[in-house]
Amino acid sequence: MRTQVGIIGAGPAGLLLSHLLHLRGISSVVLEKRSRDYVERRVRAGVLEQGTVDTLVEAGVGERMRREGLPHHGIELRYGGAGHRIPFEKLVPGRSITVYGQQEVVKDLIAARLAAGGDVRFEVEDVAVHSLESQPYVTFGGERLDCDVIAGCDGFHGVSRPAVPEGVLTVFEREYPFAWLGILARVKPSSEELIYARTDRGFALHSMRSPTVSRFYLQVPADTRVEEWPDERIWAELRARLESVPGFTLATGEIIEKGVTPMRSFVVEPMQYGRLYLAGDAAHIVPPTGAKGLNLAVADVRVLTEALAAFFEHGSTELLDGYSDACLKRVWRAQHFSWWMTTLLHTFEDDDPYGRRLQLSYLDYVTSSEAAATTLAENYVGLPYGS
Ligand code: APR
Ligand code: PHB
Repeated sequence: MRTQVGIIGAGPAGLLLSHLLHLRGISSVVLEKRSRDYVERRVRAGVLEQGTVDTLVEAGVGERMRREGLPHHGIELRYGGAGHRIPFEKLVPGRSITVYGQQEVVKDLIAARLAAGGDVRFEVEDVAVHSLESQPYVTFGGERLDCDVIAGCDGFHGVSRPAVPEGVLTVFEREYPFAWLGILARVKPSSEELIYARTDRGFALHSMRSPTVSRFYLQVPADTRVEEWPDERIWAELRARLESVPGFTLATGEIIEKGVTPMRSFVVEPMQYGRLYLAGDAAHIVPPTGAKGLNLAVADVRVLTEALAAFFEHGSTELLDGYSDACLKRVWRAQHFSWWMTTLLHTFEDDDPYGRRLQLSYLDYVTSSEAAATTLAENYVGLPYGS
């Protein structure tokens, strides 16, 4: 079997890449080890930057997102007994975010690929990439797929990145001594906008998916197991962390999903080796506080699509050679922003009173200085492409 681009992984990165390449007349095969049902149900983050929304709309997969996604024009930072709104409409006019679950994006992309006759294979076993220096190929379940280029879109735990010979990639990473316990609940959101709450008990986030489904996260120790958190304990802790301003009551309801997400910052440089190009979580991870993971994957795939189009249309390798550098600028900006949001809002075991004062002082600055708030807003809605 032969295709132009062999894509490993049917997450947002792999699926969007396959679709954008199709629109440019470039063939691809997507190989995914999980089932379609599994990837469509996997609950992940849900904040889309303006540029991500625009990309999905331009690619013709934005119809349901436009209908069902929730446009947001601000977020709230809650600490010290008060809420402080970061107003996007004032600080970054014309730019906003859309709350729409990542698995909804994945569903829309799979539907679009299949409707266009795309080759997306689920439950594929033993995927391995070979001969990355030239004439690369992929083996899986006893078959062989020859390709011009391989796109490693198989997330943090995939097989693409580990296939690069030792010593080629430089790893930059930081682990955090806590995780997020995330839940989905059948209850009307208690606030119209997202609430990022810093408390002495730890961080909490109030988000949502629809007018009847809310999404919450609690900072928990890194080794937490979901079994330690029965529903009543979750609601009590969410109340303790979110009901910190006068007049705010948290509405509760049936919990329909629970999971623990580890927190990590991770980048490899370069995001490329031979004919293998890494995109999305396969190349970099951010802690979810800044909601950048999915958005970075989309940004990588945009760059890779242009580079592959130049390669297949004119045989030019210039953009492909510059792929890693072009992506890493944005990746590092998002790394800093995500690390900064994380350190600003979480409690750390080794915090001393001095460290806590610094954190509160910075929060006061961000919520009172227009320049500082604009920095947050501009990064949160996402820097324009090409900047
Ligand atoms: N063979 C085939 N597929 C694989 C393999 C493998 N050996 N290993 C992993 N995969 C698949 C996973 O099952 C998953 O569906 O690759 C896919 C990778 O998808 P994601 O993890 O969603 O990563 P990505 O597409 O880069 O999406 C960006 O950023 O912060 C996150 O939540 C955000 O998941 C989102 C990500
Ligand atoms: C989510 O809704 O899942 C979400 C929102 C904001 C974040 C992270 C996750 O920063």
